[in-house]
Amino acid sequence: MMRLDVVTIFPEYLDPLRHALLGKAIEQGILSVGVHDLRDWAHDVHKSVDDTPYGGGPGMVMKPEVWGPALDDVAAGVAGVELESSLPHLEKPVDTVESSYEAGERDERPLLIVPTPAGKPFTQADAREWSHEEHIVFACGRYEGIDQRVIVDAERRYRVREVSIGDYVLIGGEVAVLVIAEAVVRLIPGVLGNRRSHEEDSFSDGLLEGPSYTKPRTWRGLDVPEVLFSGNHARVDRWRRDQALLRTQAVRPELLADVDLSPADRKVLGLE
Ligand code: ADE
Repeated sequence: MMRLDVVTIFPEYLDPLRHALLGKAIEQGILSVGVHDLRDWAHDVHKSVDDTPYGGGPGMVMKPEVWGPALDDVAAGVAGVELESSLPHLEKPVDTVESSYEAGERDERPLLIVPTPAGKPFTQADAREWSHEEHIVFACGRYEGIDQRVIVDAERRYRVREVSIGDYVLIGGEVAVLVIAEAVVRLIPGVLGNRRSHEEDSFSDGLLEGPSYTKPRTWRGLDVPEVLFSGNHARVDRWRRDQALLRTQAVRPELLADVDLSPADRKVLGLE
Protein backbone atom coordinates (compact mmCIF):
# COMPACT_ATOMS: atom_id res chain seq x y z
CA MET A 1 0.00 0.00 0.00
CA MET A 2 1.40 3.38 -1.01
CA ARG A 3 0.31 6.58 0.70
CA LEU A 4 0.38 9.89 -1.22
CA ASP A 5 -0.23 13.24 0.49
CA VAL A 6 -0.41 16.55 -1.31
CA VAL A 7 -0.28 19.99 0.34
CA THR A 8 -1.61 22.77 -1.88
CA ILE A 9 -3.63 25.97 -1.86
CA PHE A 10 -5.77 24.53 -4.69
CA PRO A 11 -6.99 21.14 -3.42
CA GLU A 12 -9.62 20.82 -6.18
CA TYR A 13 -6.79 20.95 -8.75
CA LEU A 14 -5.77 17.50 -7.51
CA ASP A 15 -9.20 15.90 -8.10
CA PRO A 16 -7.86 13.98 -11.12
CA LEU A 17 -5.75 11.94 -8.67
CA ARG A 18 -8.96 10.15 -7.72
CA HIS A 19 -9.98 9.38 -11.30
CA ALA A 20 -9.12 6.81 -13.93
CA LEU A 21 -5.94 4.87 -13.37
CA LEU A 22 -5.13 6.32 -9.95
CA GLY A 23 -8.74 5.97 -8.83
CA LYS A 24 -8.58 2.29 -9.78
CA ALA A 25 -5.45 1.87 -7.68
CA ILE A 26 -7.30 3.43 -4.74
CA GLU A 27 -10.25 1.06 -5.23
CA GLN A 28 -7.85 -1.90 -5.41
CA GLY A 29 -6.38 -0.89 -2.04
CA ILE A 30 -2.95 -0.35 -3.61
CA LEU A 31 -2.97 3.41 -3.02
CA SER A 32 -4.42 5.94 -0.62
CA VAL A 33 -4.41 9.67 -1.26
CA GLY A 34 -4.76 12.68 1.04
CA VAL A 35 -5.08 16.22 -0.31
CA HIS A 36 -4.57 19.00 2.26
CA ASP A 37 -5.37 22.71 2.00
CA LEU A 38 -2.30 24.69 3.09
CA ARG A 39 -4.62 27.44 4.37
CA ASP A 40 -5.72 25.11 7.16
CA TRP A 41 -2.31 25.93 8.71
CA ALA A 42 -2.53 29.73 8.21
CA HIS A 43 -2.63 31.79 11.39
CA ASP A 44 -4.50 35.00 10.56
CA VAL A 45 -8.10 35.72 9.65
CA HIS A 46 -7.12 36.29 6.03
CA LYS A 47 -5.51 32.83 5.89
CA SER A 48 -2.46 34.36 4.23
CA VAL A 49 0.19 31.95 3.03
CA ASP A 50 2.65 34.31 1.33
CA ASP A 51 4.56 37.53 1.88
CA THR A 52 6.88 39.93 0.05
CA PRO A 53 10.41 38.70 -0.72
CA TYR A 54 13.39 39.90 1.33
CA GLY A 55 15.77 41.76 -0.97
CA GLY A 56 12.88 43.05 -3.04
CA GLY A 57 11.69 41.96 -6.44
CA PRO A 58 8.40 40.92 -7.97
CA GLY A 59 5.98 38.32 -6.67
CA MET A 60 5.44 36.70 -3.31
CA VAL A 61 7.16 33.98 -1.32
CA MET A 62 5.29 31.31 0.62
CA LYS A 63 5.64 31.66 4.39
CA PRO A 64 7.73 29.25 6.49
CA GLU A 65 5.44 29.53 9.56
CA VAL A 66 2.62 28.07 7.48
CA TRP A 67 4.55 25.39 5.55
CA GLY A 68 6.55 24.15 8.56
CA PRO A 69 3.61 22.97 10.70
CA ALA A 70 1.79 21.68 7.60
CA LEU A 71 4.73 19.41 6.70
CA ASP A 72 5.15 18.38 10.37
CA ASP A 73 1.55 17.22 10.56
CA VAL A 74 1.52 15.46 7.19
CA ALA A 75 4.78 13.62 8.00
CA ALA A 76 3.26 12.45 11.28
CA GLY A 77 0.06 11.37 9.57
CA VAL A 78 -2.05 13.65 11.75
CA ALA A 79 -3.15 16.09 9.04
CA GLY A 80 -6.91 16.20 8.79
CA VAL A 81 -7.13 14.40 12.13
CA GLU A 82 -5.80 17.04 14.43
CA LEU A 83 -4.65 20.12 12.62
CA GLU A 84 -3.44 22.02 15.68
CA SER A 85 -0.71 19.64 16.69
CA SER A 86 2.70 20.26 15.23
CA LEU A 87 5.53 17.83 15.75
CA PRO A 88 8.23 18.85 18.18
CA HIS A 89 11.27 19.56 16.04
CA LEU A 90 14.26 17.29 16.23
CA GLU A 91 17.00 18.72 18.38
CA LYS A 92 19.65 17.83 15.82
CA PRO A 93 21.03 20.64 13.67
CA VAL A 94 20.14 20.09 10.01
CA ASP A 95 23.69 19.39 8.84
CA THR A 96 23.95 16.24 10.98
CA VAL A 97 20.64 14.80 9.80
CA GLU A 98 21.99 13.03 6.77
CA SER A 99 25.03 11.49 8.44
CA SER A 100 22.87 10.07 11.21
CA TYR A 101 21.21 7.87 8.60
CA GLU A 102 24.49 6.71 7.10
CA ALA A 103 25.48 3.73 9.25
CA GLY A 104 23.35 1.28 7.27
CA GLU A 105 20.22 2.05 9.25
CA ARG A 106 17.06 1.98 7.19
CA ASP A 107 16.01 5.57 6.52
CA GLU A 108 12.35 5.63 7.46
CA ARG A 109 11.79 9.27 6.67
CA PRO A 110 9.00 9.70 4.08
CA LEU A 111 9.92 11.14 0.68
CA LEU A 112 9.08 14.83 0.22
CA ILE A 113 8.84 15.89 -3.41
CA VAL A 114 8.88 19.62 -4.09
CA PRO A 115 8.10 20.40 -7.74
CA THR A 116 9.96 23.47 -8.98
CA PRO A 117 11.38 24.55 -12.33
CA ALA A 118 14.67 24.98 -10.42
CA GLY A 119 14.76 21.26 -9.51
CA LYS A 120 16.58 18.24 -10.94
CA PRO A 121 14.83 16.85 -14.04
CA PHE A 122 12.30 14.12 -13.15
CA THR A 123 13.01 10.93 -15.10
CA GLN A 124 11.60 7.44 -15.66
CA ALA A 125 14.39 6.16 -13.38
CA ASP A 126 12.99 8.34 -10.54
CA ALA A 127 9.49 7.02 -11.24
CA ARG A 128 10.77 3.44 -11.03
CA GLU A 129 12.58 4.08 -7.74
CA TRP A 130 9.72 5.98 -6.15
CA SER A 131 7.18 3.28 -7.10
CA HIS A 132 8.59 1.30 -4.11
CA GLU A 133 8.04 4.09 -1.54
CA GLU A 134 5.56 3.68 1.28
CA HIS A 135 4.81 7.36 1.85
CA ILE A 136 5.32 10.22 -0.59
CA VAL A 137 4.38 13.81 0.30
CA PHE A 138 4.16 16.52 -2.36
CA ALA A 139 4.52 20.21 -1.45
CA CYS A 140 2.99 22.46 -4.12
CA GLY A 141 4.47 25.92 -4.22
CA ARG A 142 2.82 28.76 -6.05
CA TYR A 143 3.96 32.28 -6.84
CA GLU A 144 7.73 32.74 -6.73
CA GLY A 145 8.28 29.67 -4.54
CA ILE A 146 8.55 28.60 -0.92
CA ASP A 147 10.93 30.18 1.64
CA GLN A 148 14.06 28.03 1.20
CA ARG A 149 14.35 27.39 4.95
CA VAL A 150 11.24 25.21 4.68
CA ILE A 151 13.17 22.87 2.37
CA VAL A 152 16.26 22.86 4.64
CA ASP A 153 14.16 22.24 7.77
CA ALA A 154 12.14 19.49 6.08
CA GLU A 155 15.35 17.38 5.75
CA ARG A 156 14.98 16.75 9.49
CA ARG A 157 11.99 14.47 8.93
CA TYR A 158 11.88 13.81 5.18
CA ARG A 159 14.14 12.74 2.36
CA VAL A 160 13.66 15.84 0.18
CA ARG A 161 13.79 16.00 -3.63
CA GLU A 162 13.29 19.25 -5.56
CA VAL A 163 12.32 18.19 -9.09
CA SER A 164 11.34 19.79 -12.38
CA ILE A 165 9.08 18.11 -14.95
CA GLY A 166 10.62 20.09 -17.82
CA ASP A 167 12.26 23.28 -18.96
CA TYR A 168 9.22 25.53 -18.89
CA VAL A 169 7.47 27.41 -16.10
CA LEU A 170 4.04 26.48 -14.74
CA ILE A 171 2.04 28.66 -12.35
CA GLY A 172 2.47 26.17 -9.54
CA GLY A 173 3.44 22.61 -8.64
CA GLU A 174 -0.05 21.06 -8.88
CA VAL A 175 0.13 19.87 -12.48
CA ALA A 176 3.66 18.59 -11.88
CA VAL A 177 2.30 16.50 -8.99
CA LEU A 178 -0.31 14.96 -11.30
CA VAL A 179 2.43 14.13 -13.79
CA ILE A 180 4.80 12.61 -11.23
CA ALA A 181 2.07 10.72 -9.35
CA GLU A 182 0.78 9.14 -12.56
CA ALA A 183 4.26 8.13 -13.71
CA VAL A 184 5.00 6.57 -10.29
CA VAL A 185 1.68 4.88 -9.56
CA ARG A 186 1.40 3.10 -12.91
CA LEU A 187 4.64 1.27 -12.06
CA ILE A 188 3.32 -0.19 -8.78
CA PRO A 189 2.87 -3.93 -9.38
CA GLY A 190 -0.79 -4.74 -10.00
CA VAL A 191 -1.81 -1.27 -11.15
CA LEU A 192 -1.34 -1.78 -14.86
CA GLY A 193 -2.06 -5.52 -14.92
CA ASN A 194 0.18 -6.29 -17.86
CA ARG A 195 3.82 -6.31 -16.74
CA ARG A 196 5.22 -6.42 -20.27
CA SER A 197 3.79 -2.99 -20.90
CA HIS A 198 6.42 -1.50 -18.57
CA GLU A 199 9.35 -3.35 -20.02
CA GLU A 200 8.53 -2.02 -23.47
CA ASP A 201 7.91 1.59 -22.43
CA SER A 202 9.80 4.39 -24.06
CA PHE A 203 12.98 4.97 -22.00
CA SER A 204 13.10 1.50 -20.41
CA ASP A 205 15.81 0.53 -22.91
CA GLY A 206 16.93 4.15 -23.30
CA LEU A 207 15.13 4.51 -26.64
CA LEU A 208 11.86 6.14 -27.69
CA GLU A 209 9.19 3.70 -28.79
CA GLY A 210 8.53 3.34 -32.50
CA PRO A 211 5.09 3.38 -34.18
CA SER A 212 2.27 0.89 -33.52
CA TYR A 213 -0.63 -0.26 -35.68
CA THR A 214 -3.95 -2.11 -35.39
CA LYS A 215 -6.76 -3.17 -37.74
CA PRO A 216 -7.71 -2.40 -40.46
CA ARG A 217 -4.74 -3.42 -42.57
CA THR A 218 -5.41 -0.55 -44.99
CA TRP A 219 -6.97 2.70 -43.80
CA ARG A 220 -7.50 5.82 -45.96
CA GLY A 221 -5.07 4.39 -48.45
CA LEU A 222 -2.36 3.88 -45.81
CA ASP A 223 -0.95 0.35 -45.31
CA VAL A 224 0.39 -1.22 -42.13
CA PRO A 225 4.08 -2.11 -42.69
CA GLU A 226 4.36 -5.55 -44.34
CA VAL A 227 6.86 -6.99 -41.84
CA LEU A 228 4.20 -7.00 -39.10
CA PHE A 229 2.31 -9.75 -41.00
CA SER A 230 5.38 -11.93 -41.51
CA GLY A 231 4.79 -14.06 -38.40
CA ASN A 232 8.57 -13.99 -37.96
CA HIS A 233 9.11 -12.75 -34.39
CA ALA A 234 12.83 -12.17 -34.82
CA ARG A 235 12.19 -10.05 -37.91
CA VAL A 236 9.40 -8.10 -36.15
CA ASP A 237 11.64 -7.46 -33.10
CA ARG A 238 14.49 -6.30 -35.31
CA TRP A 239 12.15 -3.98 -37.23
CA ARG A 240 10.77 -2.52 -33.99
CA ARG A 241 14.29 -1.97 -32.69
CA ASP A 242 15.22 -0.21 -35.98
CA GLN A 243 12.17 2.05 -35.76
CA ALA A 244 12.98 2.94 -32.14
CA LEU A 245 16.60 3.69 -33.03
CA LEU A 246 15.67 5.87 -36.02
CA ARG A 247 13.00 7.79 -34.12
CA THR A 248 15.37 8.42 -31.24
CA GLN A 249 18.11 9.58 -33.62
CA ALA A 250 15.64 11.94 -35.34
CA VAL A 251 14.01 13.57 -32.30
CA ARG A 252 16.27 12.91 -29.26
CA PRO A 253 19.75 12.13 -30.59
CA GLU A 254 21.37 12.92 -27.21
CA LEU A 255 19.66 9.83 -25.72
CA LEU A 256 21.74 7.53 -27.93
CA ALA A 257 24.89 8.34 -25.95
CA ASP A 258 23.57 6.13 -23.09
CA VAL A 259 22.38 3.20 -25.23
CA ASP A 260 24.37 0.00 -25.85
CA LEU A 261 24.47 -0.18 -29.64
CA SER A 262 25.12 -3.52 -31.35
CA PRO A 263 26.85 -3.61 -34.75
CA ALA A 264 23.40 -4.09 -36.33
CA ASP A 265 22.11 -1.02 -34.46
CA ARG A 266 25.05 1.07 -35.60
CA LYS A 267 24.47 0.04 -39.19
CA VAL A 268 20.79 1.08 -39.09
CA LEU A 269 21.83 4.47 -37.73
CA GLY A 270 24.42 4.93 -40.47
CA LEU A 271 27.23 5.04 -37.90
CA GLU A 272 29.51 2.66 -39.81
N1 ADE B 1 6.48 24.50 -10.99
C1 ADE B 1 6.49 25.46 -11.93
N2 ADE B 1 7.08 25.01 -13.05
C2 ADE B 1 7.46 23.73 -12.80
C3 ADE B 1 8.13 22.73 -13.56
N3 ADE B 1 8.55 22.95 -14.80
N4 ADE B 1 8.36 21.55 -12.98
C4 ADE B 1 7.96 21.30 -11.73
N5 ADE B 1 7.32 22.20 -10.97
C5 ADE B 1 7.07 23.41 -11.50
